[in-house]
Amino acid sequence: MKRSVGKLSGKAVLITGAARRLGREIALAMAEAGADVAITFRNSAREAQHTVIDLGGFGVRAVALPCDVTSPQSVKAAVKETAKELGGIDILVNNAANYETAEFEKLTLAQWDAIFAANTRGVFLVSQTALKHLRERQGKVINMGSLGGIRPWASHAHYCSSKAAVHMLTKVMAKALAPEIAVNCVAPGMIDLGEKSAAEFMRRMARQTPMKRNGKGREIAEAVFFFATAPHFITGQILAVDGGLGL
Ligand SMILES: NC(=O)c1ccc[n+]([C@@H]2O[C@H](COP(=O)([O-])OP(=O)(O)OC[C@H]3O[C@@H](n4cnc5c(N)ncnc54)[C@H](OP(=O)(O)O)[C@@H]3O)[C@@H](O)[C@H]2O)c1
Repeated sequence: MKRSVGKLSGKAVLITGAARRLGREIALAMAEAGADVAITFRNSAREAQHTVIDLGGFGVRAVALPCDVTSPQSVKAAVKETAKELGGIDILVNNAANYETAEFEKLTLAQWDAIFAANTRGVFLVSQTALKHLRERQGKVINMGSLGGIRPWASHAHYCSSKAAVHMLTKVMAKALAPEIAVNCVAPGMIDLGEKSAAEFMRRMARQTPMKRNGKGREIAEAVFFFATAPHFITGQILAVDGGLGL
């Protein structure tokens, strides 16, 4: 095993909901660049263990911690454990979220509240809880927004609104937490993660996208990596990574 020496050597990164899919891609990109990485999981304990093994392959410290971003106690424990295991927190990636399709007329208050609790309140809660550590290291927060927070999708009122709120929260946090902490947001468009059930939808979206294809997980990870390594002077930005679909 060879320790990665890269742009993030010596940095400690906490990524929520990163056992699989985009969170895992982001974690791998960070570890490849030499960062020590703590990932959190809620239900995907087995995938989290696999991801930790793969992260360890880069010779960095890697841990998986249980965390429900809707629970203050759970978030407090995960942040405390991350700081203990990795010695601090330089970069927080607020990735954990839920996605759901629901017709506007049938959308229930329970659905609305559940999406906001995870997608929006969770970002606020984890960021506020990790603040002391991030300040100590002049750190960075990278929130995961969505093209759905920029463009209205008729059957996703709660999801789109929750992500639009994350975009605004990014800007508010950038102002409130400066000059110590830089806060930015990556807003993915259609990302093909190989789901068979979504294949036809993905083909249709690719045709509508100026770049004539959907995005790859690695491309989202590279956008997050850009903010992780960007000058501290870049703050409060929402970067759509969507092949031009939102234009
Ligand atoms: N995939 C896309 O095409 C796309 C497009 C636009 C925006 N995004 C955004 O990019 C980010 C990553 O996308 P993704 O598709 O990889 O996300 P995802 O699979 O929908 O969710 C990522 C993880 O969030 C965790 N999670 C959900 N609720 C949680 C809670 N209450 N507490 C803690 N963890 C919770 C889950 O962990 P467990 O599995 O451990 O339960 C899940 O694996 C998300 O913020 C998403 O909204 C994605």
